[in-house]
Amino acid sequence: MNIDFAIITCSSTRTIAEDTAGAALRERIEGQGWTVVSHVVVADDRATIAAAIVTAAEARAQVVLTCGGSGLSLQDVTPEATADVCERNVPGIAEAMRARSLAITGRAMLSRAVCMQRGSTLVVNLPGSLKAATECFDAVYEQFEHAVHMTAGGGH
Ligand code: MTE
Repeated sequence: MNIDFAIITCSSTRTIAEDTAGAALRERIEGQGWTVVSHVVVADDRATIAAAIVTAAEARAQVVLTCGGSGLSLQDVTPEATADVCERNVPGIAEAMRARSLAITGRAMLSRAVCMQRGSTLVVNLPGSLKAATECFDAVYEQFEHAVHMTAGGGH
């Protein structure tokens, strides 16, 4: 089954050419036979990130992966931007990412990532570094097909 993904890297310093985490996520997505319909880098700004999520959802991305801005620095506003434009929390995905990541590094407890639904689009906050983003993707990607299926009205 195909899944249409959007990747939104949240960084005021990174260009798309420097976005190795986004590129690695694309490689993993395409490796599953899924599709990346858009990949953008946006400034670490709450309204800008929220607008990018809305744009991706309106373009019918089924899963939006944000990358970065989910830590403790005052510039990290991706979870707040996500909550601004999403209705329903899906806490288990963020819990699973943190639980699996804690087995790798205690720093995983510094993640404020959220996973939420905007309509039928699932938004997943991933950390920004190549290592952390791919570790968190690897922790949860196997449930994406079932999540999209259920979101579309399918049962178990
Ligand atoms: N999760 C995994 N798997 N591996 C990591 O190295 N780094 C943590 C955490 N989650 C990390 C991780 C750190 S140091 C931070 S600050 C948070 O993710 C948020 O990262 P972000 O600010 O790049 O979004």
